[in-house]
Amino acid sequence: MNDSVPPEILIDTREMRRALGQFATGVTIVTCLGPDGVPNGMTANSFASVSLDPPLVLWSLDRRARSFAAFSEADRFAFSVLAQDQVELSNRFARPGADKFGEVAWEPGLGGVPLLPDPAAHFECRRHTVFDGGDHLIIVGRVERFVRYERRGLVFAEGRYGAIAPHPGTGGVPVEEVSDARHPYDDFLVPLLFRAYNHLFKAFAETLVAEDSDGGQMRILSILSSHGPVDEGELLTKTMLSETRFDEACQALIAQAYVRPAGGDALAITATGEAKLADLLRHAARRERDSTSGLDATEVEMLRVLLRKLVLHHEADQ
Ligand SMILES: Cc1cc2nc3c(=O)[nH]c(=O)nc-3n(C[C@H](O)[C@H](O)[C@H](O)COP(=O)(O)O)c2cc1C
Repeated sequence: MNDSVPPEILIDTREMRRALGQFATGVTIVTCLGPDGVPNGMTANSFASVSLDPPLVLWSLDRRARSFAAFSEADRFAFSVLAQDQVELSNRFARPGADKFGEVAWEPGLGGVPLLPDPAAHFECRRHTVFDGGDHLIIVGRVERFVRYERRGLVFAEGRYGAIAPHPGTGGVPVEEVSDARHPYDDFLVPLLFRAYNHLFKAFAETLVAEDSDGGQMRILSILSSHGPVDEGELLTKTMLSETRFDEACQALIAQAYVRPAGGDALAITATGEAKLADLLRHAARRERDSTSGLDATEVEMLRVLLRKLVLHHEADQ
């Protein structure tokens, strides 16, 4: 077999860039000091782990970069692994040449190499090896110091920034913790929503009792507050309460002057009712903050968005 001359393969560079974009990465800003002691930095997603023993990482440096000379000669360099709220910083350091450091509050690390603020992690390196990598230079660094921060990393894929979200197929459990012990029942939305609802509502229910109210009354007040006067039949459907609970709740609300008859079968919320609802909502917000305080704020927000979508999806057909 003749393997000396590989066949000519035509590669469409744009398509190859798009195909490479299918591989999701994090985003770093790599920094060094130039020979003149001036800080250099650029956004780089070619950062990759190489070895734990010895501790090595690599990145590839575009030969056309203005800071090529500084990075290709630097004995020390550092990576600030960006957190998911640092898109602006990433864009800033991806713009060629300009004064990237400006008002950025960086701090000098080992050898004075700049470390950027509030990252997900820092890796401070000493140059280990440099390889030719075509139009890039592959620079391997030996990690001398690193810090991991409790911040979610920024993601880059398909030419866009993204955020880390747990894969639905793993129930959000880290790979090493996924086990077969989970009952398939736990994969269904209804039991998950039901259990989550019970946990979240438990704490708030105590507040409602203390406030001489209940979930049904609060639901009626919120519907009347956002819709104006509503006929009792329609109100009953919207609250999803049983008829008995609905009647009890309406009577209690009318007795406390939170709700008043508004002609025909309609009911309306009063000014006192609006004040009561505002008070209950304040309590609910505080309880919700407490119940979700150990969770990632972005994920909680994502959950809110998804649940809203789910509700709208079904209510649109009604
Ligand atoms: C998400 C992202 C990742 C990047 N990764 C790299 C990289 O790994 N290596 C590189 O040389 N340039 C990379 N770039 C481009 C450089 O950040 C950009 O060319 C920068 O302006 C170079 O700065 P300079 O010309 O001032 O040296 C990346 C840009 C973005 C937006």
